[in-house]
Amino acid sequence: MDIKILHIDSNNPILMEQLQELGFENHEDFTSSKEEIELKIKDYQGIVIRSRFKIDKTFLDKAVNLQFIARVGAGLESIDCEYALSKNITLIAAPEGNRNAVAEHTLGMLLSLFNKLNLADREIRSGQWNRESNRGHELDGKTVGIIGYGNMGKSFAKKLRGFDVEVLCYDILDNVGDANARQVSLEELQKKADVLSLHIPWTAETNKMVDAAFITAFAKPFWILNTSRGKNIVTADMVDAMKSGKVLGAGLDVLEYEKLSFETLFQDKGTPEAFQYLLQADNVILSPHVAGWTFESHQRLAQVIVDKIKEKYFGKTPNETVEKRVTGLGGVFFKAKNPKELVAWYAKHLGLKTDDYGSTFWWKDAQGNDCSTQWSPFADDTSYFSPSEKQFMQNFRVENLEELLIQLKQEGVTVVGEMQSYDYGKFGWIMDVEGNKIELWEPVDAVFK
Ligand SMILES: NC(=O)c1ccc[n+]([C@@H]2O[C@H](COP(=O)([O-])OP(=O)(O)OC[C@H]3O[C@@H](n4cnc5c(N)ncnc54)[C@H](O)[C@@H]3O)[C@@H](O)[C@H]2O)c1
Repeated sequence: MDIKILHIDSNNPILMEQLQELGFENHEDFTSSKEEIELKIKDYQGIVIRSRFKIDKTFLDKAVNLQFIARVGAGLESIDCEYALSKNITLIAAPEGNRNAVAEHTLGMLLSLFNKLNLADREIRSGQWNRESNRGHELDGKTVGIIGYGNMGKSFAKKLRGFDVEVLCYDILDNVGDANARQVSLEELQKKADVLSLHIPWTAETNKMVDAAFITAFAKPFWILNTSRGKNIVTADMVDAMKSGKVLGAGLDVLEYEKLSFETLFQDKGTPEAFQYLLQADNVILSPHVAGWTFESHQRLAQVIVDKIKEKYFGKTPNETVEKRVTGLGGVFFKAKNPKELVAWYAKHLGLKTDDYGSTFWWKDAQGNDCSTQWSPFADDTSYFSPSEKQFMQNFRVENLEELLIQLKQEGVTVVGEMQSYDYGKFGWIMDVEGNKIELWEPVDAVFK
């Protein structure tokens, strides 16, 4: 294999070691300017970056042999993604590597804000012992609104499971809600939320998303957490809302004033007025863009990148592909002469909790997520099992139905009909070798409850 990879930022050593072992040729250049790297990028098939400079059109035009750009981080906004994709360059990011870190950091900021830990700590260090003014708030009973329900948003919602809070999410994609957060409209989120947590990418649409009008649309005073990108918030508008009491406090891991590299704070000299306010405000917790920056994520990010580059060039090993397929039994469906009477019999004699559709069994998977399995008799003349002639139909829970159906088709498995999306998940159908129809279900279990 003759694949040369240029690394322009330092990363966990396992990244280079494992790529080397896989047979890639690795070169480091942590110091040359963008212009200097542009002169030699034509010699490389891959580039591994963090955030040192923007990969723009000029750069991409010079990268005539580039096959992939891997970013050891979650967001890809420092890359002209559209242009790169138009040149058939694969984009690789590693949100799986730092989503747990971001979620724990966000929760840490939220609990610290609610319990005034930053202020109390400062006061004690300066000899003050103020109990009343350090009285805290409890999360219990509050509503947390998450905007952007992707890797980070989902991971944060999972951390909130142990608290008695209602978790809502808003996203531009449909059907992303799950057992940990109910998907709602932006209006509903703004009406109900006590805490807003941003987990959106930085795009033209989300740039300055949280401005005066956006804040005014919230029905109640609320707390803001931002671990996305600083420019998602108009800081001056948020500060005005803090002064008026509409925003109760803020936990900010990212600031409007950061440089694109995240390595330094100010683009220009001087401290903006709104930032000066944040610096002296007791109800504000700041951290220097480190939510995803833990000892554990340092290694995990590198591993995810290696795994994805490996997958691009060598595909998944049979184990990796199979592992992700079925995650549980989603349901057993069978034909019955009189489904209603049968359901009543099972309720009476076996104590099943039944409804018109049969019975739903609830259980928890290894990660503690609520999962359901459905047991349902169908009318004898149902066409739902066709083209199968059998009396039974099985339903399996899967993690990524769209990808799985593509893989199954490639393997020559008969796929019946098109994938369908409903409130409770995505459905697809296949036939096994004996002519049994199998329903594949990527569930949204919460809706059933
Ligand atoms: N602070 C840190 O250290 C740190 C670490 C990792 C990620 N991040 C940031 O967190 C953010 C989220 O990352 P992710 O990996 O979860 O991304 P993701 O792509 O997995 O999820 C983002 C979600 O936001 C949704 N979205 C996009 N535009 C939207 C809009 N206008 N309104 C509502 N939803 C919208 C998308 O549909 C998607 O579901 C990014 O900005 C990323 O850069 C920060």
